[in-house]
Amino acid sequence: MEQVSDTGPTDSPLNEDAAPERVIPEHARTIRSYVMRAGRTTEGQARALSELGPRFVLPYAPQALDFAATFGRQAPVVLEIGFGMGDATAKIAQTLPDTDFIGCEVHEPGVGALLKHIGEMGLHNLRLVRHDAVQVLEHMIPPGSLAGVHIFFPDPWHKKRHNKRRLIQQPLVAHLCSRLAPGGYLHCATDWEPYAQQMLEVLGAEPALVNTAESYADKPAYRPLTKFENRGLKLGHGVWDLVFRKKD
Ligand SMILES: C[S@@+](CC[C@H](N)C(=O)[O-])C[C@H]1O[C@@H](n2cnc3c(N)ncnc32)[C@H](O)[C@@H]1O
Repeated sequence: MEQVSDTGPTDSPLNEDAAPERVIPEHARTIRSYVMRAGRTTEGQARALSELGPRFVLPYAPQALDFAATFGRQAPVVLEIGFGMGDATAKIAQTLPDTDFIGCEVHEPGVGALLKHIGEMGLHNLRLVRHDAVQVLEHMIPPGSLAGVHIFFPDPWHKKRHNKRRLIQQPLVAHLCSRLAPGGYLHCATDWEPYAQQMLEVLGAEPALVNTAESYADKPAYRPLTKFENRGLKLGHGVWDLVFRKKD
């Protein structure tokens, strides 16, 4: 059974305190891009949550993170929004050991699953926040600080009346751009063609971004094919990657 979370971003008292230069468009603040699924946390995930959570899960706090203190080193930081069960996230963190990753996901079993990968793979360059990424972006990610943003297979919100819940819309993209460092990248992937077209249109219209390809990009080598994606590709379904860079 699925139920829509009623703890929305507008509940945050901190929005009122935002400094004028950090004020973000209302839509980016109130977008409800996920549903809270009543999924079961397995024993292994629960163990990972209790054993590894204290080290690798950052509590949501309305305070900008100090990346160097968080990771214990100076390295480029990439934010991932909606890592699901975290399979791709863990593989990317393993492939790119000189980059630090912050993954946001609202779903507890997903956080537990990724913590399990962290333990099994001995990863050190990954921290998780179990919270709405839109609020994390606003309150925890300093402006101009990110080397990249990953948004892989975001909920497509197929029905027309739900399209407004898609993450990739102008206000959120502008908000993301404010957190990217000059030259930083935004990498999105989707298997839903109408959403891919929307992404291309919205990202293409954002003045702070330039497309790294003519249109859709080749899949960058660091993004692994997920099981779900592999199955879709075998059935002849498409996948579209988009990689845009923030202007210097
Ligand atoms: C369709 S799943 C894709 C998961 C994963 N990226 C993959 O490729 O398998 C989208 C995920 O994004 C999460 N999500 C959506 N909006 C979010 C938000 N605002 N903050 C954090 N997670 C979010 C959902 O809970 C869900 O797990």
